[in-house]
Amino acid sequence: MKQLEEKILKEGKVLSSSVLKVDSFINHQMDPQLMKKIGEEFAAIFKDMGITKVVTIESSGIGPALMTALELGVPMVFARKRKSLTLSEGLITSSVYSFTKQETNEVTISADFVNSQDKVLIIDDFLANGQAALGLVDIVEKAGAETVGIGIVIEKAFQDGGRLLRQKGLKVKSLVKIESLENGKVVFLKEEYAEVK
Ligand code: G4P
Repeated sequence: MKQLEEKILKEGKVLSSSVLKVDSFINHQMDPQLMKKIGEEFAAIFKDMGITKVVTIESSGIGPALMTALELGVPMVFARKRKSLTLSEGLITSSVYSFTKQETNEVTISADFVNSQDKVLIIDDFLANGQAALGLVDIVEKAGAETVGIGIVIEKAFQDGGRLLRQKGLKVKSLVKIESLENGKVVFLKEEYAEVK
């Protein structure tokens, strides 16, 4: 997605050879026009797959997931990382380990909102090691539903997540793939190359 690549080059900050800061339009402040475009892109990619629900994980997945759900005309459900005061029964849970933060979070979704009739599209902002996406796939499976696709805003192709998910036979589509963040520079992976890799 050209517009997203341009935004990353203009406003993204390379914090290290593995971390890209995009606080000004995704992770803290959000750019609604860009989010709308992201939703349209995902909806165009996944429109013929009979999706009944978009699922993401709080907090930064919510923006792109909501815009995608709006375009597809289906509800969006976000997995919670913290216990909710009003949600206590009928919870489906999965453990998600973050290599970045070196901690495990229990993530939950209410069984009221994902069930065996659902065809789920998982959306997230970043794909790094793939643990968050795998946790969501696990929850969808426990709910008896089917994950029909995974849409990622920014995939860091030099980390393991993409390979891990695709090896499981999951259809993963990323709007932008980053090949490298070495020497303070963002290098995008070109799609022709990405397909054969
Ligand atoms: P994984 O799910 O792919 O295994 O990722 P990992 O545990 O390594 O990432 C933990 C958190 O850091 C996630 O957000 C993820 O989206 C984010 N993240 C990973 N790599 C980058 C990066 O290069 N840049 C930025 N900006 N974020 C990255 P989170 O903790 O769930 O935060 P939030 O969704 O509440 O904002």
